[in-house]
Amino acid sequence: MWPHEMPPSPDELRAHVTDVDGIVSMLTERIDSDFLAAAPNLKVISNYAVGYDNVDVSAATAKGLPVGNTPGVLTEATADQAFALLLAAARRLVEGVEYIRNDEWQTWYPLQLLGSTVSGATLGIIGLGRIGHAMAQRARGFGMRILYYGGSNQAFADEVGATKVSLETLLQESDFVSLHCPLTPATRHIIDAVALTQMKSSAILVNTARGGVVDSNALLHALQTNQIRYAALDVTDPEPIAADHPLVHLPNCIVVPHLGSATWETRINMGLLAAENLLAGLRGEPLPNCVNPEVYG
Ligand code: GLV
Ligand code: GLV
Repeated sequence: MWPHEMPPSPDELRAHVTDVDGIVSMLTERIDSDFLAAAPNLKVISNYAVGYDNVDVSAATAKGLPVGNTPGVLTEATADQAFALLLAAARRLVEGVEYIRNDEWQTWYPLQLLGSTVSGATLGIIGLGRIGHAMAQRARGFGMRILYYGGSNQAFADEVGATKVSLETLLQESDFVSLHCPLTPATRHIIDAVALTQMKSSAILVNTARGGVVDSNALLHALQTNQIRYAALDVTDPEPIAADHPLVHLPNCIVVPHLGSATWETRINMGLLAAENLLAGLRGEPLPNCVNPEVYG
């Protein structure tokens, strides 16, 4: 067990895995071919996260190693976080807190800190998987119209009344765009300078997926020039983001430190799933949640 708060460097990690049979990794560890070469006895990789872009899955598959993740148990918590960010950005909650802390509150007036209306607005969901679907359920409760791009579960779309559209249509028509896709080569920078120009100038971007889904420089420029109205980011590129990064200081941007699944119950349940995956792998049994089942032939 790595006892420190800060994760091991790649060198430290490699030095500690020369005789391990299994590993529970987190998104702070890169599980790549250098790592695999350093761990010749490895039988299983159990990633404590639903996302697994930190794992080179094809390198693991080439070695016949199953990779486990922790889906399902963090769906609702992550959607809660995404909706909390949506509301916080829409109603400028962080600015309001700062306003009072800075002793700027002198009186009430009709144009004070005006935000965006959520009820009746259009939400565009990029990635209608488990978490995107849970986000859509919340949005329905708030009377939103829902568009989506990416994700092929028709039952999810039907249940929440979401309409499938092209990416361009989603960007053009949405008042809120929320990202719920995994980070893959196809989704890397799906929100780039071009995508940002297609969005409404009143649009709000919410990211609880992975920082790399958004081109951070393009987003910074879009927020600085009011090409879009607001962004609320649970994940960033780079991560951790430094206190002196310009995105952190924009009035129209909220940044929080990758807390999508950060509730007590969720983190405990993720730990249990990661342990079950690890133990199954050590016993040579199929992992309950395996991202590369092709290793079983
Ligand atoms: C966290 O980001 C996860 O993928 O579980
Ligand atoms: C606001 O507080 C109102 O009463 O409209």
